[in-house]
Amino acid sequence: MARHLITSALPYINGIKHLGNMVGSMLPADVYARYLRQRGQDVLYICATDEHGTPAELAAKEAGLPVDAFCAEQHDAQKAVYDGFGLRFDYFGRSSSPQNVELTQHFARKLHENGFIEERAIRQVYSNADARFLPDRYIVGTCPHCGYDKARGDQCENCTRVLDPTDLIDARSAISGSSDLEVRETKHLFLLQSKLQHEVEGFIDAVGEEWPHLASSIARKWLTEGLHDRAITRDLDWGVPVPADVWPDLAADGKVFYVWFDAPIEYIGATKEWSDQDPASRDWKSWWDESAGAADVRYTEFMAKDNVPFHSVMFPATQLGTREPWKKVDYLKAFNWLTYYGGKFSTSQKRGVFTDAALELLPADYWRYFLVANAPESDDSSFSWEHFSATVNKDLADTLGNFVNRVLSFSRKRFGDDVPAGKEAGEAEQKLGTEIATLLAEYESHMDALQFRKAAAALRALWSAGNSYLEEKAPWLEIKTDPEAAALTLRTAMNLIHLYAVVSEPFIPASAAAMRSAFALTDDTATWVTPADARALSSVPAGTAFTVPPVLFAKITEEDLESYKERFGGEE
Ligand code: MF3
Ligand code: ZN
Repeated sequence: MARHLITSALPYINGIKHLGNMVGSMLPADVYARYLRQRGQDVLYICATDEHGTPAELAAKEAGLPVDAFCAEQHDAQKAVYDGFGLRFDYFGRSSSPQNVELTQHFARKLHENGFIEERAIRQVYSNADARFLPDRYIVGTCPHCGYDKARGDQCENCTRVLDPTDLIDARSAISGSSDLEVRETKHLFLLQSKLQHEVEGFIDAVGEEWPHLASSIARKWLTEGLHDRAITRDLDWGVPVPADVWPDLAADGKVFYVWFDAPIEYIGATKEWSDQDPASRDWKSWWDESAGAADVRYTEFMAKDNVPFHSVMFPATQLGTREPWKKVDYLKAFNWLTYYGGKFSTSQKRGVFTDAALELLPADYWRYFLVANAPESDDSSFSWEHFSATVNKDLADTLGNFVNRVLSFSRKRFGDDVPAGKEAGEAEQKLGTEIATLLAEYESHMDALQFRKAAAALRALWSAGNSYLEEKAPWLEIKTDPEAAALTLRTAMNLIHLYAVVSEPFIPASAAAMRSAFALTDDTATWVTPADARALSSVPAGTAFTVPPVLFAKITEEDLESYKERFGGEE
């Protein structure tokens, strides 16, 4: 039994996420974790809310709440949505936890001891009205190049030129609008990543070849440009405090660590949160400390492409610089963007679908299947209501759901409440068994390779094979001339349903459970089937009692489609 550590990028605390966010991180991670668990692996799937930083402070301010209360509330709100989507984390933590505070400070101490942190004075814009330093993007003004009057201190959105806040004409605070700004000198901690360049290169050489091209190419690009030293502290009220015993001046000044310094450490922090809940049976170190058993862990990370630099280069640099044997990523699964009709999902323009709204509309399995089957793996992919409803209707309602209901209702009508025996399997069943075994092996190999679109295609092909078999055998005709032949067909089809229940579980867990519980089987029927067993199509023996579950997937009608487009925005 192999040990698999899985993490998905920590969703930012500042609000409920849209579908695009989930398909590039948590959802495929859950599908993969479920698959590995079913195959008997020891899996630990960890995620958390990412709670520090300026956006959290500003969102709290907008909500009129103290930032800690805001984060607590938003953590629960996000967790509820993820539960609704069937995301089965082993633990869903919070980056503001005491465990993460302690670990983040520990990392900083070790980096300092090893000469990888340096104090430097920098000049920064201070807003007197807001009584705080402003990050570059919270300073707005007129672009000196194109005259755009809402340019940000880091970049002009209009002409895309990179700016320094001091370039802006009529600079003002994006928070209060005040132009009472001044430049002050202030001290910050810098992580000397330049000193770790070669080690990170060595690390990427060792593991990166196996990664998807999207991930390894981004890592390579950053390394080629050269790792720069980075400020890892900020002037904020909310964050992990700089430890006073090491940096008394900065601590007295109220400096906290930059959110991107403490967030990845929360992968470890959340594992400790998990372990602290039941220390007798859970050992966080065995997952993260290579001298305490973590050397044999396989660690897979899931994220969208904008997160790749932090995870492939900066977090490994942070880990390496401690000179402690931390478990580092083995496989980095990166995703492109899911667009909404080719454009951006936009909160402000109310375009696109948020995860909470999605669940109000339809059950999680509809979304899970559609999103993972169309995951933006090799390219961006586009969400449209037309594509979504066509996929649901064809794959889920027609190919899978209808098969299940048709077979079970027909058999009950003709043969009663138990799986009928009928004839011995014949040529058609042998052919079907061979096809199923081949497709199942294909499905497994795509899942093992984390190729989700291909895996979904193989799953769909498994569902289709059942339909073709049923059409060919036509038990509704067989019943008229040879009831024993019809019984064989139905028994075989019911075994397919059971197989579908097992192998579809990672994608559509709730529907899979409904399919599985149609049969009164006593053993643990959720365990994986080998292609060889699948070939026999005999896990549900004749005489097994069954029930007909309610319709698994309702079709999306033209009227539904129109109303969704109206509510969420359709083609521009
Ligand atoms: N919150 C970040 C984002 O939404 C992701 C953080 S991933 C972590 O882009 F590892 F740093 F936590
Ligand atoms: Zn400009």
